[in-house]
Amino acid sequence: MNQRIHHLLKKLLIFILFIIVIYSIFTVYYSIKDRFYSRKSYKYEKKIKTKTNNDEQIVETVPAILSKYPDRIIKPNTFKNLPWYFKDGLQEPNKAEVDPTTGVRISRLWPEEKKGGDRIEEQLMFIPPNYQYENAPMKKILLYNGISDWMVDIGQSEFLSNDCPVNRCTILTKTKLIYSMDAVLFLGGFYDPLYEKLLKKNSKQIWILVFLQSAYYWRFDDVRNDMINWTATYRHDSDIVIPYGRWAYFDPSVTQVEQLNMNYSLNKTKQVAMIVSNCNTDNKRLLYAKELSKYISVDVYGPCEGYTKCRYDNFLQILDQDYKFYLAFESSNCIDYVTEKFFIGGLQHNVLPVVMGGRREDYERMAPRRSYLHVDDYESPIQLAEYLKQLDANDDLYNEYFRWKGTGEFIDTKFFCRLCALLHDDDAPIKHYRDLDRWWRPPNVCDHSTKWLKPPPVE
Ligand SMILES: *[C@@H]1O[C@H](CO)[C@@H](O)[C@H](O)[C@H]1NC(C)=O
Ligand SMILES: *[C@@H]1O[C@H](CO)[C@@H](O)[C@H](O)[C@H]1NC(C)=O
Ligand SMILES: *[C@@H]1O[C@H](CO)[C@@H](O)[C@H](O)[C@H]1NC(C)=O
Repeated sequence: MNQRIHHLLKKLLIFILFIIVIYSIFTVYYSIKDRFYSRKSYKYEKKIKTKTNNDEQIVETVPAILSKYPDRIIKPNTFKNLPWYFKDGLQEPNKAEVDPTTGVRISRLWPEEKKGGDRIEEQLMFIPPNYQYENAPMKKILLYNGISDWMVDIGQSEFLSNDCPVNRCTILTKTKLIYSMDAVLFLGGFYDPLYEKLLKKNSKQIWILVFLQSAYYWRFDDVRNDMINWTATYRHDSDIVIPYGRWAYFDPSVTQVEQLNMNYSLNKTKQVAMIVSNCNTDNKRLLYAKELSKYISVDVYGPCEGYTKCRYDNFLQILDQDYKFYLAFESSNCIDYVTEKFFIGGLQHNVLPVVMGGRREDYERMAPRRSYLHVDDYESPIQLAEYLKQLDANDDLYNEYFRWKGTGEFIDTKFFCRLCALLHDDDAPIKHYRDLDRWWRPPNVCDHSTKWLKPPPVE
């Protein structure tokens, strides 16, 4: 009898020891894993902060978008009541109007409600019809990958300091509290499907995927199905669109103005310039430049062999002074993929950008009218070269491409203000993405056919 108890106790002890060992192994594993993740998100930090992307490692850090404004020729106060998100804007939104028959707000905020547009300005001007201002409930937003990837503070200050019309939101970073959050932001995707499988999702929660890189180089096939409610990417059909740059007119009926006494070809002695750091991209942009250089002078800068090395800031300076045209060719040709290469290198300098990357209609949505040339408008590099030579020889024609200057500004699209307003939208569609990768990379989302590559003309 005594011996049997002894035996049982021994077994129990071994069992307890076993549990302790397993438990410690797990604790050690996850603490190492956590550290690994925070290192990984640190790697993302610079990219997000400067809004550059790692498809194209530009040698110097690029100044944050919107840090420079093009010369104002029309004074913005010529237009009374600019919306609050313009630099000198004063017009605050009112609560959204409600359709008397349906009882639903009239604003069109979601991709389901307005096809084709990015809805950024509608979202910036949205206050829910029943919004209680200071008495509205506080929406809790978790930055799942930590705060260092974002240029924000914990708490409500991001919403207050940006004068968000809807500011009852607070930012948190404690992943332990995930279950009690209203929204969870995943920046850069899920890292490890095994680990994320352990995360429990509260049925009222909105999980949001935030992503800025090109669909050509990045896939989402490790994101769990049915988990993501909203997307925030550069694509115009994301729920919250985050473009690399966004033009807005002071008055949409005035898109071109006479640039009095401005001669944009003054002092310019060179023709086409380009800078690349990634020399071997599948859209064959360097081959395009090489073809073009058979007919017009093209100077390529960058670290690749055979090209002139140049710091990015020096490049921008000589671009402004010496060159008439700038090849703002992205590293991949995908729907809506237009980066700071165009917005900063091109539009914020006195040079005419020639673009390759997004489709023609994508540039039309984001950029001022007649501010660039799109390679798709020319059958092949030779046709483009012919037109560039024509512009080079005719200052009046060349200067026509700068008439947009002063008719608007590159607005700060205030992601967190829009997020907060949408979290308070009582009419938000209940939605989630079944298979995120299918949405992100449908067939033809990127087009790398070199249709412009034509056999040389027969002499
Ligand atoms: C612009 O400046 C160039 C000198 O770089 C000059 O040759 C040209 O006549 C000027 N054009 C106009 C329209 O003022
Ligand atoms: C053109 O060159 C002249 C003389 O070097 C200089 O004074 C002027 O500022 C330059 N203009 C532009 C638009 O760069
Ligand atoms: C969010 O997604 C889940 C599926 O993961 C879904 O059950 C839920 O209804 C969605 N919520 C909203 C508000 O869209």
